Amino acid sequence: MPRFSDETLHARRERLAAALDAEGPAIVIGAGVPLSKPGGLDQCFPYRPHPEYYWLTGLTRPGGAVGYVPGEGWTSFVVPVSDAERLWTADECSPVGTDISKLAQWCEAHRGRGIVILGCPISEIAAISDPPGDMQFRIDAVRRRKDSEEIAILQAAIDATASGFAAAQHCIRPGVTERSIQIELEAAMFRSGAEGVGYESIVGIGPHAAILHCQPGNQIAGADDMVLIDAGGEIGFYTADVTRTYATSGKFTPEQQAIYDIVLAAELASIDRCRLGVEWHDVHRTAAGEIAAGLKHLGILTCGIDEALDTAAVWLFFPHGIGHTLGLGVRDVGGHAPNRNPGRKCCGATPRIDLPLEPDFVVTVEPGIYFVPAILDDAKSYRQQFRDAVDWDKLQPWRAVGGVRIEDNVLITQGVPVVLTAGIPK
Ligand code: GLY
Ligand code: MN
Repeated sequence: MPRFSDETLHARRERLAAALDAEGPAIVIGAGVPLSKPGGLDQCFPYRPHPEYYWLTGLTRPGGAVGYVPGEGWTSFVVPVSDAERLWTADECSPVGTDISKLAQWCEAHRGRGIVILGCPISEIAAISDPPGDMQFRIDAVRRRKDSEEIAILQAAIDATASGFAAAQHCIRPGVTERSIQIELEAAMFRSGAEGVGYESIVGIGPHAAILHCQPGNQIAGADDMVLIDAGGEIGFYTADVTRTYATSGKFTPEQQAIYDIVLAAELASIDRCRLGVEWHDVHRTAAGEIAAGLKHLGILTCGIDEALDTAAVWLFFPHGIGHTLGLGVRDVGGHAPNRNPGRKCCGATPRIDLPLEPDFVVTVEPGIYFVPAILDDAKSYRQQFRDAVDWDKLQPWRAVGGVRIEDNVLITQGVPVVLTAGIPK
């Protein structure tokens, strides 16, 4: 059964068709196939359909493809369920569609107008034409705007994630390990409907909070440590992506509180910037400005705020982008506007998107302040470059704070941004 209603799938196909060139080539989008685990284990990694295929078909079965001919419409090619699959893995009926064995013939019939293969490679057909230069931009622009079924699934994933954070917060106390927090977090998410996690859960205690993607291990929480948790439950391949930072004892030390307050102010200010037409880099700059002002107030940064942003001194403490587009996967349809160079920097960071915001985008907003030894102890490079922008002696006692990140998932609207993760206390 497709994951989405017929009406929604029809509306998506219409929106995409309207965005594509009426004189353009035919398109085939491959679902992909499972990846074998190495070593002849007779096992595969968990399968995910290519997001463009899944978005257009709602189907999770491997090996399919969806074809489109401008002016003619869409054809879903499917792999019928075999008897061997019925024995070992599947009790499902074959999806509705044209047998994939007809795809080569379909391609032959449309060869004259050119055929572009998108999504995953398809074993039944070889690459035929290169996509026109702006085709992927056009597809991405349509898919970036989430429809109501996408928002509803995402909200369900967020609600499951909220249960996970509540359970995790409840279990945090001196003596717990990162791994034991992860177990409580994920068990509660799964009990509340999550089908998986959208990415490996991040749990960092004490200095590990400064490891941006810390894998939970045996680090034990001390009474004065903070715990950073960045996790997202997934439903129907739509994932939440939430970060909260907690005090092990339930109460921050004054230093932790000061850093937390700066990050929270940066988060609230940058969420407020998430308005129609605002450039994503300006959202990043808003957060960076709050962080630079806060660190200057504490005497850690000594340069002016604009200088901290323009010379990237703020990057020493906020070394990642403000967030990313979210939905069908944790980096759903990112990228940059046409005619922009990929990877443009902003305040020293490389934001994952470089676009003006449009209604129905879902983005994460996730500023942080970290005291990263690999950055702050780099005597030859950063300490030299920023010798006058940072009070390196005054910085020293703050390093024990480790790191703070606060992350919410935000829906862009015609008016004020909607924080989909508002139910998770911070
Ligand atoms: N939640 C992890 C990340 O956004 O990188
Ligand atoms: Mn994120």
